[in-house]
Amino acid sequence: MSSAAPDDTQSAADRKDFTAIMPIAENTQSAGQSATVTRFPGSSQAAAADAAPELALEIRGLRKTYAGRKGRPGKDALNGVDLAVRRGEMFGLLGPNGAGKSTLINILAGLVVKSAGQARIWGIDIDQDPRNARAAIGVVPQELNIDAFFSPRETLELQAGMYGVPAAERRTAEILETVGLTDKADAYTRSLSGGMRRRLLVAKAMVHNPPILVLDEPTAGVDVELRRKLWDNVRALRDTGVTVLLTTHYLEEAEALCDRVAIIDHGAIVACDTTRNLVGRLDRKELLVTIEESIETVPGSLAELGFALLPDGRLHVAYAKSRIRLPRLLGAVQAAGLHVADIETRESDLEDIFLALTGGEAATIPSDEHAA
Ligand SMILES: Nc1ncnc2c1ncn2[C@@H]1O[C@H](COP(=O)(O)OP(=O)(O)O)[C@@H](O)[C@H]1O
Ligand SMILES: [Mg+2]
Repeated sequence: MSSAAPDDTQSAADRKDFTAIMPIAENTQSAGQSATVTRFPGSSQAAAADAAPELALEIRGLRKTYAGRKGRPGKDALNGVDLAVRRGEMFGLLGPNGAGKSTLINILAGLVVKSAGQARIWGIDIDQDPRNARAAIGVVPQELNIDAFFSPRETLELQAGMYGVPAAERRTAEILETVGLTDKADAYTRSLSGGMRRRLLVAKAMVHNPPILVLDEPTAGVDVELRRKLWDNVRALRDTGVTVLLTTHYLEEAEALCDRVAIIDHGAIVACDTTRNLVGRLDRKELLVTIEESIETVPGSLAELGFALLPDGRLHVAYAKSRIRLPRLLGAVQAAGLHVADIETRESDLEDIFLALTGGEAATIPSDEHAA
């Protein structure tokens, strides 16, 4: 494709079938520099047979204490994390800044040395066989750390060389096409936009065809539109059978992309469940009522139900949807002599769950009993 991605917008190439760059099973022990490194069978489902482990990632009791500088106390970034990511799933590690997400990723990538615990990547223990463990994942780092003096093509060739991918097996052009950078193949990387650099990082993580792809905050600082396009890319990757672990502090992102989500806070996993279960865990809905009248205080009967007045003049209430029904709340508003002009409801999302689990604002859940 010749007119790929003039800017951050996604070109047709982005949406192209990623299977094209994930060739099926090649378990070659290439001669020369990489003789001891296993070349992984393609990440595609077709190759998922025999050798593929049930768990793509298995982490037990993982701890990391960063040494303190100049006599300062050390920083406990991970306090005994257990995590299991199944083969083929899209798993989200969700947590606020400083929760320990990058530390965990960087330990898997071999960039940070853990203080304690075990990790197996594609069944390979990172202590016993670090080279092969690392060969099983492609990590897209949070920082945009691309050497600005190489072109995208050179960047991928260098990366392939680092992983010992023989020249005949390299798919540089294909990968560039897939991430929509064909037009920029020979441009200086420093001339690429932020979105293009991010896509180049994804390309870089894919050159050795790893069965697991790890994306550390893939859309941090990216505008909403580009974020959605990057989501499409990630989904397309997952559809080829690649196991995806992504970290994010965007609740919306975890909800939109992930089969399962682990919530991490202060270096500890506080919840781990399917996205659906996590959302269902909080039986909470919110109602916003625009009324025709302008009032200064909430009538007592409504205050008892948990209604509060918002600065914009609307009435707000959070309620347990299993125990109280919307008509009842609206009926109460009318019974208080007010006229409903408009309503808006909001389901609980991961943000609410996160707040409830991490000791932020607790959910307000008035029930019909209270309302009696
Ligand atoms: N190299 C380092 N040296 C000391 N402390 C660090 C280092 N890297 C991260 N930290 C600290 O460890 C904690 C976890 O950081 P990080 O893993 O980057 O979190 P996240 O990626 O979730 O934002 C933070 O308190 C951070 O300040
Ligand atoms: Mg981080």
